[in-house]
Amino acid sequence: MTAWTVIVNAALDTGIHKHPSLDTWFMVTKKSTYVVGASADGYVVNLHWGKRLTQLDNLNATVTPKTLSQNPPITYALEELPAFGGLRYREHALKVDLPNGIRELNLLYSGAKIKGDNLLDIELHDGNRTDFKVTLHYEVDTENDMIRRSYTVKNGLSDRVNLDMALSAAWHPPTALNVDEKRELLTLAGEWNNEAQVQSTELKPGVAHTIESTRGFTDHVSFPYFAIRQVPSDVNPGTEVYFGTLAWGGSWEITAHTNTYGQIRITGGMHHLDFGWTLEPGESFTTPVFIAGFTDEGIPGARRRVPRHARKYQQASLQTQKDDSVYHPILYNSWEAVTFDVTYDKQVSLADKAAPLGVELFVIDDGWFGDRDNDSAGLGDWYPSKKKFPNGLKPLADHVHDLGMKFGVWFEPESVNPNSNLYREHPDWVLYYDGVPRYEARNQLLLNLGKPEVQDYIYDRVSSIIEESDIDYIKWDMNRPFQGVTMHDYDRNPREAWVLIARGYHNLLAKLKKRFPDLWIESCSSGGGRMDLSVLEYADQVWTSDNTRPDARLTIQYGASLFLPPRAMYGWVTDSGEDDNVHIPLSFRFHSSFMGGLGVGANLNNYSEKEMNETTGWISLYKRLRPVIQNGDLDWLVPPSREGQFIAASQTTSHDQQEAVILAFRMNSPFSAALNPVRPRYLKDDALYRVQIWLEDPYKIAEEYTMSGALLMHKGISLVGLNNAMFKSAVIYLKESSN
Ligand code: DGJ
Repeated sequence: MTAWTVIVNAALDTGIHKHPSLDTWFMVTKKSTYVVGASADGYVVNLHWGKRLTQLDNLNATVTPKTLSQNPPITYALEELPAFGGLRYREHALKVDLPNGIRELNLLYSGAKIKGDNLLDIELHDGNRTDFKVTLHYEVDTENDMIRRSYTVKNGLSDRVNLDMALSAAWHPPTALNVDEKRELLTLAGEWNNEAQVQSTELKPGVAHTIESTRGFTDHVSFPYFAIRQVPSDVNPGTEVYFGTLAWGGSWEITAHTNTYGQIRITGGMHHLDFGWTLEPGESFTTPVFIAGFTDEGIPGARRRVPRHARKYQQASLQTQKDDSVYHPILYNSWEAVTFDVTYDKQVSLADKAAPLGVELFVIDDGWFGDRDNDSAGLGDWYPSKKKFPNGLKPLADHVHDLGMKFGVWFEPESVNPNSNLYREHPDWVLYYDGVPRYEARNQLLLNLGKPEVQDYIYDRVSSIIEESDIDYIKWDMNRPFQGVTMHDYDRNPREAWVLIARGYHNLLAKLKKRFPDLWIESCSSGGGRMDLSVLEYADQVWTSDNTRPDARLTIQYGASLFLPPRAMYGWVTDSGEDDNVHIPLSFRFHSSFMGGLGVGANLNNYSEKEMNETTGWISLYKRLRPVIQNGDLDWLVPPSREGQFIAASQTTSHDQQEAVILAFRMNSPFSAALNPVRPRYLKDDALYRVQIWLEDPYKIAEEYTMSGALLMHKGISLVGLNNAMFKSAVIYLKESSN
């Protein structure tokens, strides 16, 4: 669609349209529409969010006429950007400290511009002081029914202005239609080793639910993701879901508040705690992007859309050659096997063992640099340890390349041990407050990435190592929360440090990607502490959790698959799950890691010939199935549960529905009943599918038959091999066939 196209009485195309006579804009996606408009008195409000509209309906923007003294209409208006000020008493998104002690804004419509097919800017000005301006930015992802929102504030005053809170957007799912309509909020909670645990809670009037990280980065304690779904009842089928996520790598918050009128407001963006940004006259500031969408296909519909959206923006932003025909490599990483005990000889010996298994990327983890024999020294000194690698990393890289694998290296560039040359030389490069203890966590402090000289040092060291040693992949780790966040020798607001650091991190990743377009980057923060949509614009993949026990991993992957593209969600097969307390077969460990990018982290030195052979078989099967696994849509047929934990099953389906990979798990079989058949979804009713099932042996198809899509989806797949035992699992491959 071209800008300003007006269509009346015809089905609306996807894209952005202005109403012919009203100041309303229709953002039309494949299956949804989002409408904003300016009311007669200038308030910019949401007029529709949900089902796709076919007409440019006359949606007059009026502010709810509730005139009781305690219910000011503006409080109940569905303002796109509710700023602190006037009689607004619901969640705010923006608060500004203006000259003369004034801290109120009254943002009013002053113009709009459609830019290209999918961008819209709406201009607001402060009705109290006309030269404070805000531009609301909208970007429409038509295929995935999602809208990306942010805004820019511009200080047109002749005095300095401070931002005290600058959340990215407010969203308003429609008001509940009747008292029976219940809605549930889905969020993701966690801790280190226990990421992305799905939580659900009923939305109740008068209650605000906030999820957040105040630690300076995305973190494990919560993930910036929400989904609000109708709870099915006798009066509604309960399939509508509003869902969203932030593209921001610093501290963040999302709040969902419900009132007794059934209105819901969701606000979110950079955490306001200790946030501050100063705008000198003429300066502007743009918030991170808050993305949200609508589907009437339930949580599976939301689970399909966010990962696809993330992948789309990952590809657009990285602009590397990694389209869907380039598969994420199967990696070997020795961290769990040998921790810091990395030497040239020991890594060579592991590489020699990994290559014949079919491994494609060999990664050396922590311990290769400085005086790093344990976690108390060396961080910051990004020079290969003379003791462990007397000739640098290049000989190891050459050896790995000669074996036909790519070579990867671990870094934790933001961190520094006080016991390091870098800290001795630059004690002022870390985050600290004068006269306050520099609290160490894991014996380390954080460098201030807001400082250009710190960014330069990191960029120089990481890129030198990449160049000198011919490195194909880096794992960028970060293992402690922020403290002492300020800027020294800085004539601006020291609270800006929170934003400068988050931007500094993204800037570094972007610079590295630009210089080394083929480089693979994995984002890690003590496992899955940094897996948000902003990091995915620079990194190819994330390390989902340090917890590699496969049954734990199922619940982690269940949550993480709500927002991660499958190819970015890495899982390693390790020795976790095989010790004195628990025996989880290698097959089960592989099958749980088959859900995304595959890694091996076991101690290959202890592997028997049988285990090596089995590993080779699973890797080879994974390679065959990975076009579906890495590029398909991952959904869950049976969600894993933390209570009981008896069964779980996932299905990844190719976009053309011609292929699917089902992974089925039985953790326990305490009752005599057989496992119910697992019923696939998303197949074509009228197509025939060849079904192949593997159980414990990668070289032996345990069962094989052909069945129609309709029957498969109705009758399900019987998996008798999963009965009467603990930790049994199956891989099922469905492929459309002509007979
Ligand atoms: C934390 C990461 O999550 C691990 O995979 C490993 O790289 C260690 N750091 C190394 O210190």
